[in-house]
Amino acid sequence: MAHTKEWRSSMKIRFDYNNMMQAYIGEHGITDEEIFAKSKLAKNALNFYKTNRGTGMMCWSELPYNQTEIVKELNETARYICKKFKNFVVLGIGGSALGPIAVFQALNHLRNNELPRKVRKVPKLYVEDNVDPERMASLLDVIDVEETMFNVITKSGSTSETMSQFLIISDILKKKLGDRAKEHIIATTSENKGNLIKIAQREGYKTFYIPDGVGGRFSELCPVGLLTAAVMGVNISEMLKGAADMDKACLNKNVSENPALAAAVLQYIAIEKGNNISVMMPYADGLKYIADWYCQLWGESLGKRIDLDGKEVFAGQTPVKALGVTDQHSQIQLYTEGPFDKVITFLGVDKYRAEVKIPDGYKDIPAVSFLCGHTLNELITAERMATEYALMRAGRLNQTIMLPELNEYTLGQLLMFFEIQTAFVGAMFNIDSFNQPGVEEGKNATYALLGKEGFEDKKKELASAPKKDAKYIIQ
Ligand code: PA5
Repeated sequence: MAHTKEWRSSMKIRFDYNNMMQAYIGEHGITDEEIFAKSKLAKNALNFYKTNRGTGMMCWSELPYNQTEIVKELNETARYICKKFKNFVVLGIGGSALGPIAVFQALNHLRNNELPRKVRKVPKLYVEDNVDPERMASLLDVIDVEETMFNVITKSGSTSETMSQFLIISDILKKKLGDRAKEHIIATTSENKGNLIKIAQREGYKTFYIPDGVGGRFSELCPVGLLTAAVMGVNISEMLKGAADMDKACLNKNVSENPALAAAVLQYIAIEKGNNISVMMPYADGLKYIADWYCQLWGESLGKRIDLDGKEVFAGQTPVKALGVTDQHSQIQLYTEGPFDKVITFLGVDKYRAEVKIPDGYKDIPAVSFLCGHTLNELITAERMATEYALMRAGRLNQTIMLPELNEYTLGQLLMFFEIQTAFVGAMFNIDSFNQPGVEEGKNATYALLGKEGFEDKKKELASAPKKDAKYIIQ
């Protein structure tokens, strides 16, 4: 369904940073003067975004605008999958999995897989982003591969975890279905690089492409995330529209009118002042895995040893996920009274998609009956506001992003907001936000341990590494 301009304007997400400011939280807060002092830095970050968008590794910034054709193909494929298959399984990891998981949780029924098919209308979804053998075995216990479409997603086409899952599944499919195996696999990968594309062409799989200039953690708004979303009944055009509208808002040169730029400046100042932790705390189960997605985006993009001039900077801010209200009973004690080293970002929703009343009862016990007549909606909202307030009173940096509702349009805005904020902060730190050199050493050591060709020297290096000392192992 196409929405009106008025509807969209009522669905704008809001970035509220009152509680980042000294006027509210006292000495640990940020002042207007400090923000003003970063005007040049902000201007340069915005220029970097404007100048580089659509080029190099910043092609993700154009995704909201340039996919009309591919959206048609994705929707057609999604309709076919919905008609023919009971299960849709994503095989991928990192940026090839966290977006699909987050969007599914945000826009589908929270218990999608447990609903009867008639109510659900879409397949069951499983996103397999680990190589724990027990998890793979358990998946095979609950699905029938004959009723399942597998979407193997890997941009590089060489990620060990994804390729090993692919080898397992394609072997099972071939043994069971012979030539028809290929009808159960869709490959989403680079069009001209890596091994998956070679295999896909050889086997005749349906393929979708990940554009060259779109890195894993910036790929939710291309076929990596859009196919799963379309299969799960999401209006992907509306999600892209939300992202496009956020992108436009983030081109505004006034920091106070540009949500991602304001958020970037604040976070940059907070980091300069020693706030090395960024807590993402949504107050909605639907947004729970947005925190996971954010953790990868923020951590992998900004955690860098050297800057663009080759200087050692050890940049970054550790992302932590939390869930309101659940983690009020686990982490909030630390956030209220522990070290002054973090910024807490709350995600709130004005209007939840369900309303649940708390019925009358136990009128004679006031400590229980004060809840009666209220709704869970009022309770979760009151708890979010109360936690913001308590943190403000304790002088803790916190900010809130409010979604009028959780829907395709607001989610598109939210994803784009964080992607652009990340690019802005990376530019402020003068680092490359789009690579991940720090994960290579571990990957190479894995290749060596498993005997991959070309890693013989690494294997020797590992063999001569210091042996673990039994005196440091307690049984
Ligand atoms: O953000 C990134 O680029 C990484 O986290 C990748 O998404 C992850 O390593 C998976 O890579 P690939 O899609 O090549 O399998």
